[in-house]
Amino acid sequence: MQPIGAVGLDEVSGLTTPIARFLDGNTDMPTPFLVFDLDVVALRYRQLREALPAAKVFYAVKANPAEEVLTALEQLGSSFDVASRGEIERCLRIGIEPERLAYGNTIKKERDVAFAYEVGVRTFTVDAEAELEKVVRQAPGSTVYVRIATDGTGADWPLSRKFGCDMAEAAALIRRAAWAGLEFGASFHVGSQQRDVRAWDRPLADVGALLDQLRSEGLEAAGINLGGGFPSHYVDPVPELGAYGTAIRAALAANLGGFAGEVLVEPGRYLVGDAGVIETEVVLISRRPDNDEARWVYLDIGMFNGLTETLDESIRYRVGTPGDRANQGPVVLAGPSCDSADVLYEKAGYQLPLDLRIGDRVRLLSTGAYTSSYSSVWFNGFEPLRCFFVSSHDQRVVAA
Ligand SMILES: Cc1ncc(COP(=O)(O)O)c(C=O)c1O
Repeated sequence: MQPIGAVGLDEVSGLTTPIARFLDGNTDMPTPFLVFDLDVVALRYRQLREALPAAKVFYAVKANPAEEVLTALEQLGSSFDVASRGEIERCLRIGIEPERLAYGNTIKKERDVAFAYEVGVRTFTVDAEAELEKVVRQAPGSTVYVRIATDGTGADWPLSRKFGCDMAEAAALIRRAAWAGLEFGASFHVGSQQRDVRAWDRPLADVGALLDQLRSEGLEAAGINLGGGFPSHYVDPVPELGAYGTAIRAALAANLGGFAGEVLVEPGRYLVGDAGVIETEVVLISRRPDNDEARWVYLDIGMFNGLTETLDESIRYRVGTPGDRANQGPVVLAGPSCDSADVLYEKAGYQLPLDLRIGDRVRLLSTGAYTSSYSSVWFNGFEPLRCFFVSSHDQRVVAA
């Protein structure tokens, strides 16, 4: 967690100075809400550029699509990975040039491919023949990245079975793309919140072999997309970003030493996760008949208004509470909706102070990624997650 100290992180509270100042000044603000420090995004962007200097950054908009975040990254020089027509339109609306957009979702309506091409997007990703044919028909002369399957080992949020093709199919798709006059590249994603810095080794070895084979046929790749997967700081420890950079640079040198094309990364979580803190309130503390050991602590935020990634207890946020931390006991953490799926952590072993009370404020740290964008519009009448953006430079506070 230490590198974030550069933006004034308080090691005890886990809050940056602008976030702490905002929370201190808004103790009566109705919860839940997300406070997001734009300085952290700038720091994380610089750290990623330092770790992988040869790679062009395409921020995965889905992680946090707020215009404040997109504008900050646009000013830092980032490009953008978009998943839908909606994300393309949002990027264009705030003045991002279409050449800086890559349509990375492998599941696109053909009319959305046509729309993207019409507005100037020229980079697409596919992992199936029928998807490639949409690009061939609607986006002549574009660059198409063929996504290779990974098994997601080492990732807390794997992106495996649903995506990617095997190496034989990738080669066939690339030959077809080249024959149709498209530029081509290879892409993969090692799974989100990837905690193993060596997870890129295997796909890079596969991609190296694939590109060698294609080169022997006279086909030269335009680029390699290393995907996302770089972590935020949740309960389980993760290596520092530098270790990812070292491992990936070594794997690139070993397998793609002479590669002259572009290298892309598509980080989402790493750039925005640690920038956010969700302020929430304890609505109820009770005991359930079948579990007399743990208290059930119900918060005013849950699975449906921002904490979707607690599904299967996959992403385990750090929790900050008032009270006596020396005297803690086991809890089940749950959300406020009338839905029994809305249980956040039951098996993960969370402990909270025994003197925690209804009405206390509870902070969920490193919640800047995949929270506001997952929040439902009106489930049980709960509002979408409100967001406030702060920064040390201009003391700006914007509600989105
Ligand atoms: C195609 C694609 N690229 C990039 C990302 C961002 O991944 P991460 O947030 O792990 O960096 C995702 C996440 O779902 C994705 O689907």
